Formats: sequence, C-alpha cells, structure tokens
Amino acid sequence: MTRTSVILDVDTGIDDAFALLFAARHPKINLLGVTCVDGNTNVDQVIANTLKVLDAAGAGDIPVARGAVKPLLGQSHYAEYVHGADGMGDLGLPDSTRSIDSRTAVELIRDLVEASSDPVTLVPLAPLTNIALFLRAFPETAKKVERIVLMGGSASAGNATPAAEFNVWHDPEAAAIVFQSGVPILMYGLDVFMRPGVTAEEAKSLEASTDPCAQFAGALISAFVERIGSPVTLGDYGAVASVIAPELITTQFFDVVVDTSAGPARGQTIVDRRPPLELEIEPMRLESGAHVEVTLDLDVEGMRNLWLTTIDQHWK
Ligand code: BDR
Ligand code: CA
Repeated sequence: MTRTSVILDVDTGIDDAFALLFAARHPKINLLGVTCVDGNTNVDQVIANTLKVLDAAGAGDIPVARGAVKPLLGQSHYAEYVHGADGMGDLGLPDSTRSIDSRTAVELIRDLVEASSDPVTLVPLAPLTNIALFLRAFPETAKKVERIVLMGGSASAGNATPAAEFNVWHDPEAAAIVFQSGVPILMYGLDVFMRPGVTAEEAKSLEASTDPCAQFAGALISAFVERIGSPVTLGDYGAVASVIAPELITTQFFDVVVDTSAGPARGQTIVDRRPPLELEIEPMRLESGAHVEVTLDLDVEGMRNLWLTTIDQHWK
C-alpha cells in the first residue's frame, strides 16, 4: 500500500481533533509529526489538546512541536465560542503524559522534510503562521515540500467576517506568504468545509463502541452537539482526507490573492472565477495571484464513511 508522508499543523480545536484522529489511524497516512499554532485557542492549550488526541488515537511516538504564539501582525482572536473554553469541547480529560518535542515548529518541519526519503505534504488546518515562518526561515528545505493541502479560505463567503475565513483572517500576512510561495497548493475552504457531518445519533453509536478512539470521538461530537446542534461538521478532517482520497473532491485551478488590507475584506481569499471569455477580453488580472487548486465540491457520503470506518473499526 502506498503511504503519503504528511505533517499536520493544527490549532486543536474540535475539528482539528477529528482530523488528527483520522491521520494517526489511517493506514495510507504516514504521520511524521504535528506542529501547533495559536488559533482557536492559545498555543499551550493547543499542545495540551493535541497530545490528548494522540493518546485517544493510540498513536505511536509522533513528535509534536510548539509554534507561533501570535499572528505575524496584530492580535490573536480565539474561537472559544465555537470550541469551548479549553478549545476542545471542555471534556475535562486528564493531561497526557506525552512530552513536547524540544524543537520549535519550524525546526521540526525542517528536520522531518530533510530526513524523509519520500515527498512530504504539509497539511495546515489552522492560521498559517508556522508555515509562513518555515518557508521564510528554510527556503531551500521548502523547495523539497511536495505540496501544501490547507484548510482555509473561501471562493464564496467568509465565516470570521462576511469576507474572510477564520484561518486566513487570523493571520492574513502569513497566508499571503504561503499562497505566493510557489509550493503547489490545494485549498480546502468554506465552499465545502461544513458539508460532511456526523449526527447526534452517530455520536451515541461511537460512544457505545468498544474502540477507545471511537468513544473519544463520540464524546467530542456529543459535546459539540450541545454547543452548536446536530449534525456536527467534520471540518478540518476533509482536508486530510483529500490527500489520500482525491476521488472524493472536485477541484479547479484559479488565481487567488489574499487581501492583507486593513478594510472589511482583510483576510479574504479573492478567487478569480470569471469565465474564460471574460478573462480573455478583460485585461485586469489579479496582481501576484497564485495559481491554486480550489476544492469546489465533494462526495459527502464518501467523506463521512471514510472517517467513520477509520475512527471505529467496527463501524458498519
Ligand atoms: C477553521 O477555523 C477553525 O475554527 C477550525 O478548526 C477550522 O480550521 C474554519 O474556519
Ligand atoms: Ca483548525
């Protein structure tokens, strides 16, 4: 079986947890390491949450590193209203006994990419601060990255603001650096993000499983159901699934620019979706637009089944 080597960058985060559980358990994914960043909550809480999720997944000794404590410019904006005071559903779980890697996030990414004999895919599911810093600190290593499959952006509306998706809005300058880096990018954004979901009933079935990973996932979904209602989006997970199951998504290439202005569009990913004829007759092209593969549609049932059958090995 071909395995894809990936590094996840997370701000765990309920849906980051869904993604981490999947990445740690799916046999086609070789999870080299996990880097943590300020986003849904502060980076130390992100680390604590991430280590607990790796415990629940029964993961081996996967290095986890601490990354940026703030966006490149401006202040943090936490999403506790969605993810809870602890950023992960306030389940009251005991701390993990796993320890954090002694390297910073950018050093860990550098070392893992340099040491890998296979191409490495970076999968950021959070504000792009760590990834931008890595690209700027180690440009020669960055050239060896096969591609970046990121959860972020939107070719339609935003969520953090009318125009901007949370991860890009939290650190637009970092996102601009990543989009302009020249590394091939697949954008899994808000156009599809909410669509694969799990219901309150499915959460109960997971909680009743004999598989501890499924029990944890079920408890997390149930906590989210109480907060937001059912169904609960699998969110960030979809970006990870796209790496190993590209047949589940429909994509198209567009020029994309990240708005870093101070106005109401700050953090928007401006996606040039004009039809080819208009592009031919209209000379105004996006300045410094990156050519990005954008996810426009997906197989919702396929995505749901892939997650459920990976998280609960007894799922039918
Ligand atoms: C993104 O923001 C976070 O709250 C989620 O984990 C996801 O990565 C969605 O806009
Ligand atoms: Ca996230």
